[in-house]
Amino acid sequence: MAFLGHKVTCVDPDASKIAALGRGEVPFHEPYLEELIEEARPNLSFTTDYDEAIPEAQVVFIAVGTPPGKNGAPDLQYLQAAAQGVGERLGHHFTVVVNKSTVPIGSGNWVGALIREAAETRGRGKDCFAVASNPEFLREGSALHDSLYPDRVVVGADDPRTSEVLYTLYRPILDQTFPAPSFLARPERVGGVPLISTDLASAELIKYAANAFLALKISYINEVGLLAEKVGADILQVARGIGLDARIGNRFLQAGLGWGGSCFGKDTAAMVSTASEYGLDMAIVKAAREVNRRQRERVVEKLLAELKILKGRTVGLLGLAFKPHTDDLREAPAIDVARQLIERGAKVKAHDPVAMDRFKREHSSLEHILCATPADVARDADALVLVTEWPQYGELDWEAIAGSMRTPILLDGRHVLDRARVTRAGLRYIGLAG
Ligand SMILES: NC(=O)c1ccc[n+]([C@@H]2O[C@H](COP(=O)([O-])OP(=O)(O)OC[C@H]3O[C@@H](n4cnc5c(N)ncnc54)[C@H](O)[C@@H]3O)[C@@H](O)[C@H]2O)c1
Repeated sequence: MAFLGHKVTCVDPDASKIAALGRGEVPFHEPYLEELIEEARPNLSFTTDYDEAIPEAQVVFIAVGTPPGKNGAPDLQYLQAAAQGVGERLGHHFTVVVNKSTVPIGSGNWVGALIREAAETRGRGKDCFAVASNPEFLREGSALHDSLYPDRVVVGADDPRTSEVLYTLYRPILDQTFPAPSFLARPERVGGVPLISTDLASAELIKYAANAFLALKISYINEVGLLAEKVGADILQVARGIGLDARIGNRFLQAGLGWGGSCFGKDTAAMVSTASEYGLDMAIVKAAREVNRRQRERVVEKLLAELKILKGRTVGLLGLAFKPHTDDLREAPAIDVARQLIERGAKVKAHDPVAMDRFKREHSSLEHILCATPADVARDADALVLVTEWPQYGELDWEAIAGSMRTPILLDGRHVLDRARVTRAGLRYIGLAG
């Protein structure tokens, strides 16, 4: 928003994050974010104090975490605190409060009620604000691309004034009139970005329905992968043959270890939980979750089938982040896999190009598994597992790796490596689906 020319104040109670951002340091790994912040700096400020941000604002985005809570429903304590904090400080003009966080259906009304209550304690009327839902679809690792060049913008609002304000705010993106940053060229596209203007509940459901669909697409190809292995079919060819059908599309059809990250797990759980409140059983979404959970166990099963005994073996993991180009470790398959292997008595070694510092902070009890280089991970290992498909792992010196391992077994958990090449290098290549 600041890059597009709007004046933006970012508020977070985490003082260390705010201090880092003030110095121009981004507290997580996201390609080009530092550069973009630098370009937008004249329009940007960072603070821990709501009073510096809310009273003057015409639009307030609430983008706090909504982590998984009990029984699959998200924990809304941060959303509640933010809504109350905003309500207590609304200015004397009309303010649009936008739910940018992924929140359960009905949260727009709830946030509205919280703000109204807080505003009324300050003698403000119920007409001084309106709530909108503006779900976020960006992917970590390509967050800037997805924000500047989105497939669509969804705005849910029950008050026409709100839609108008957000339309004005998003106009440079909808019409693609802003100059593209030098490091992020504008992709070729026909026309502008579609705006989906809906009621609040529809916007909230669009976010859950989109994430659940992507999650089940991944689980579907993983389930087909199980069958492919049994019948001796090649899952990569099968996925290609399916994906070229324009009705299906080839994205999210990569068989492997399945999804991780902070969104798919919690959002599918939240969808199942919301549906159950209405007596509905989301059978397909539940099955997608179960298939995804089982994929992580398959790594251990495959290694067991190869090595026969895991106790005392050394297994190397390439990649810790839940996907490439981020250091996010939330729900990362690598952590589950490492724990399962350690429980079975194996020694685990691991490497990641960017997520190791975060790993030390967030998983200090497992810090001892970290190795400085992929070569260190491979040395004397009984098997190597590619967990995260960082592009640089495709370019490793596989001959040297094969030569340094105790038994040169390579389990490609993402089906991305060049099978012929690593086999020529002397490794026994195994895919998760055959
Ligand atoms: N990460 C993604 O790729 C992604 C994509 C789409 C949607 N979302 C949704 O966006 C939301 C945020 O996700 P995230 O990954 O950025 O979470 P996060 O936990 O990384 O960041 C949330 C931030 O909110 C701050 N916070 C907590 N309470 C606050 C308060 N009262 N006022 C102001 N700030 C407060 C925290 O200190 C933290 O810095 C979630 O609802 C998530 O589902 C995330």
